[in-house]
Amino acid sequence: MGRWPAHAYEMSGCSARPPLCWLHVRLMDSEFYSLTLRFLTGIEEASTRPCVLGVYSLFVIASVATLASCGRTGHSDPGVVSSQRVKPLGAPVDLTVPLGLPPVPVPRDNPMTVRAVALGRRLFYDRRLSRDNTVSCASCHNPLFNFTDRQPHSIGVAGKTGTRNAPTLINTAYNAAQFWDGRAPTLEAQIGGPMENPVEMDQPHELAVSKLNADPELRRHFEEAFGPGPVTLGKIEQAIASFERTLISADSPFDRYEYEGDKTALSPAAIRGLAVFKNPEKGNCVSCHTITGKYALLTDGLFHNIGVGVNDEGELTDLGRFSETKHDADKGAFKTPTLRGVAESAPYMHNGSLKTLKDVVDFYAGRGNSNLYLDKRISAIQLSGRDRLDLVEFLKSLSSKLPPDAGPLPTGE
Ligand code: HEC
Ligand code: HEC
Repeated sequence: MGRWPAHAYEMSGCSARPPLCWLHVRLMDSEFYSLTLRFLTGIEEASTRPCVLGVYSLFVIASVATLASCGRTGHSDPGVVSSQRVKPLGAPVDLTVPLGLPPVPVPRDNPMTVRAVALGRRLFYDRRLSRDNTVSCASCHNPLFNFTDRQPHSIGVAGKTGTRNAPTLINTAYNAAQFWDGRAPTLEAQIGGPMENPVEMDQPHELAVSKLNADPELRRHFEEAFGPGPVTLGKIEQAIASFERTLISADSPFDRYEYEGDKTALSPAAIRGLAVFKNPEKGNCVSCHTITGKYALLTDGLFHNIGVGVNDEGELTDLGRFSETKHDADKGAFKTPTLRGVAESAPYMHNGSLKTLKDVVDFYAGRGNSNLYLDKRISAIQLSGRDRLDLVEFLKSLSSKLPPDAGPLPTGE
């Protein structure tokens, strides 16, 4: 039976290796395992079993007791990199939702306040969140490009690139899960990812927190938003997530046509495009890019394989949602993106493989790249040449104004 490796101390909650933790790890060492194994597999003589059982129980009790105290020692200070939530201070934000959207869901443990949102806005544009102070969240989620970067694959510190396209952050507050594969359950939980990702901001959380803590003015903003105390990862996450929840956009020409009955809001081509979008015998786009009688998120929040990212051998180049669920049916499935502001956020798809909206519509008309896990709805799509042009006109009508306080803070504030 091998010895526990060094990282076992961390795994058991014993980062500082205090004496009790050492004891705990020793107890969990070879003796424990060999005894247990021998007892359970019945290799011991029957007459020695009660004795083994006694020793075994003692080990278990001692082990649990030391683990409990070890856990306490290891985590007595949640520390600056914990995601512990702190109640934000000050006036709540009045979020008036534009035409075409439902109320913004806000988690109970992070109510939105004016100060937290302002702090989040400041941090979103702060390049100190990256290792070499060159990359901010906005480098890849640029308000000028509908909060994307107009690159097929985003560029992080030192020019490193990943394999996925930066999604828009517009209306991301409504997503039931974040990322193309849905691996982050909330906006708060998403933020630590890019901060550490080697091809994005590439900086350990400890370092990000200590850089921000060393700036007295920024610390003052944190204290105004969350009360006295140091900058923590949790506060960074809460503030940026609160800012992201303000990135709401609707009241587009489509919304005025659909929800206000303004028949002049859309061109005749866009009106025909909307009909194709909804028609189950034609585009059937609405079966995934949802439009309800009251509002339109233009996504069902689910994951589908529509045949993007299939190589010449017919193999999927990115397993997408499967990496999270391990269900075969999720192979090559990605989250349905919202289509709001889509005309401003080329190139398209999780891998940025399609350059224009016309390319996207032609792709659907070709019914995706065939592969084992293709969603059945894709093969049902039937589009004529005119349907395709009309669909593009309709997609353009989904653009609307960004909220006024979405850009970087004016210098000096
Ligand atoms: C180097 C470019 C880059 C930087 C910097 C970056 N992102 Fe992203 N962001 C991406 C890419 C690429 C994805 C998609 C990754 C995936 O799905 O696997 C993404 C996904 C997201 C999503 C999920 C949106 C959705 O609809 O699923 C959110 C939210 C987000 N980023 C916010 C942020 C925040 C906040 C920061 C700063 C702390 C940040 N990003 C920094 C490139 C970047
Ligand atoms: C089966 C569900 C489904 C149907 C039907 C569907 N889509 Fe999609 N759509 C998706 C998914 C999932 C993606 C992302 C796929 C990926 O990147 O692998 C997507 C991506 C897109 C994008 C790119 C958005 C971006 O930001 O990259 C556009 C534009 C789009 N769809 C428009 C349409 C149109 C127009 C139709 C009808 C002709 C349609 N979709 C039908 C699920 C669907």
